[in-house]
Parts: sequence; structure tokens; C-alpha cells
Amino acid sequence: MLVLSLIDERFSKIKRILVVASSKGGVGKSIIASTLALELAKKGYKTGLLDLDFYGLSDHSIIGSLPHEPEEDNGIIPVQIEGIHFMSIVFYIDEARLPLRGDELSSSMIELLSAIRWPELDFLIIDMPPGLCNLIADIMRCIPKAEFLIVTTPSKLAVETAKRLLVVLKDMDANIFAIVENMSRDDSSNEFGEFKELFMCCIPFDSKLEDAIGNASALLKTDFAKGVGKVVHALCS
Ligand SMILES: Nc1ncnc2c1ncn2[C@@H]1O[C@H](COP(=O)(O)OP(=O)(O)OP(=O)(O)O)[C@@H](O)[C@H]1O
Ligand SMILES: [Mg+2]
Repeated sequence: MLVLSLIDERFSKIKRILVVASSKGGVGKSIIASTLALELAKKGYKTGLLDLDFYGLSDHSIIGSLPHEPEEDNGIIPVQIEGIHFMSIVFYIDEARLPLRGDELSSSMIELLSAIRWPELDFLIIDMPPGLCNLIADIMRCIPKAEFLIVTTPSKLAVETAKRLLVVLKDMDANIFAIVENMSRDDSSNEFGEFKELFMCCIPFDSKLEDAIGNASALLKTDFAKGVGKVVHALCS
């Protein structure tokens, strides 16, 4: 299909693509994706961040203010924000038209993926909306080398749905990079049985995190960011 080869070309200069996903909402995908991108950029890696959460666009608010609209030149050129090449559908979405239906979401996402002109990058972090296996399947079809980072909380309810998502991803032959248990109250992580060979880490609940939202340098000084540092270490070693 023509659009798939265009997307393939658009993503060809990116070494690793990490998709931050979860089955449940509100588990910390956006703040993990944004902090991960900030930390990688601070370490000197060429890093991109793509906010694909049609319903809860928040990466720009986590990092700082909304930058100017991206310029277009044979495609959309991501904007620079805190050393990151940043792109979000926030620039294009018509909130009055939400909610989009499943197939509209899918085609909007594919259209956007085919339009962005990413530069050479070491890492691209993609922040997904919760659940929506069809969008995850689209990502796999469009970007076969994407690696998934699955976020859960320690709650039994979140862990059960995370396991189901992991099974679906495994059935689809996805590259699963890691499981992150966020908002942990102690270091004893849940059991992920057949997935125990994957990299897994806990990020603590940080009561000071809220105050750092919107300020990239304050965010990087939090205990939460220290927790995200474990993912950075696993990615870069
Ligand atoms: N480790 C943590 N400690 C304290 N607060 C946290 C932690 N992780 C996330 N939060 C808070 O939880 C809330 C939800 O986080 P976030 O928006 O990143 O979740 P999400 O999975 O992207 O949600 P959605 O599914 O709606 O996109 C935010 O207010 C965030 O600041
Ligand atoms: Mg989110």
C-alpha cells in the first residue's frame, strides 16, 4: 500500500521507536513518555516525542507551554521544545468534532504518521491513548520496528488488564520492550508470569510530581524522574 511505504520512508531515519501504551487510562503514560523524552534529550540523544492521545493530549502541558504551530515543507516539520523534536495532534484537532469513531481515529492517525518529516533520531517516544487495540494494531502495521513499553499501576485491576494487553501484543508478534509499574508504594512488583523475561521496573508514587508539571527542569529533578531513569538506563545499555 502506498501510504505504508510513505510512512516507512518517514520513519527510516529513526533508530528506535518506543510506543508507551496501557490498557487502562490514567496510569501515567503521558508523564512517563514526556519525562523519558526529556531525559534522553538531556543525555545528548537525538529524541522525538509524538503525542497520539486524541482524547487526552497532554505532553505539551507536561513539558511546558504549547509551542508555535509546526511549519510545513513537503510534510510537517516537528517543533523544537526543550531539546526534543515534538509533534502532537493538538495542533490539528478540532475539539468540536470529538469523539472520533474508531475508523476515523485510525485514519487520522495514519494520515498524521504519513505527514511528519522526522529528522535523524536516536529515539522516538510515542504516547498512545489508553486501550484501543485497533490503534496498536495500526501502529504495528505502519511501524513494524516499534517496541512497546506497557504501563500499569500496582492495582490488581490494572495488572490484570495489562496482562491481557501483553497477551494480545504477544499474539500479534509485537516487540515488547518493558513493563513499567508506575505509582508503586514499595519495591515489590506484581508477578507477570510468562512475561518475566521482559525488562520490568517500578516507578514510585511521588507526591511532589504535580508541582513539577509544566516545568521541564523541575520535572527532571523529581523522584519520579529518577524512576524513569531506570528505563533510560535499560534503553541505552
Ligand atoms: N509516579 C507518579 N506519582 C505521582 N503522580 C503520578 C505518577 N505517575 C502519574 N501521576 C499522575 O497521574 C495522573 C495521570 O497521569 P498521565 O496523564 O500521565 O496518565 P495517562 O496514562 O497518560 O492517562 P490517559 O490514559 O488519560 O492518557 C497525572 O496527574 C500524573 O501527574
Ligand atoms: Mg495520556
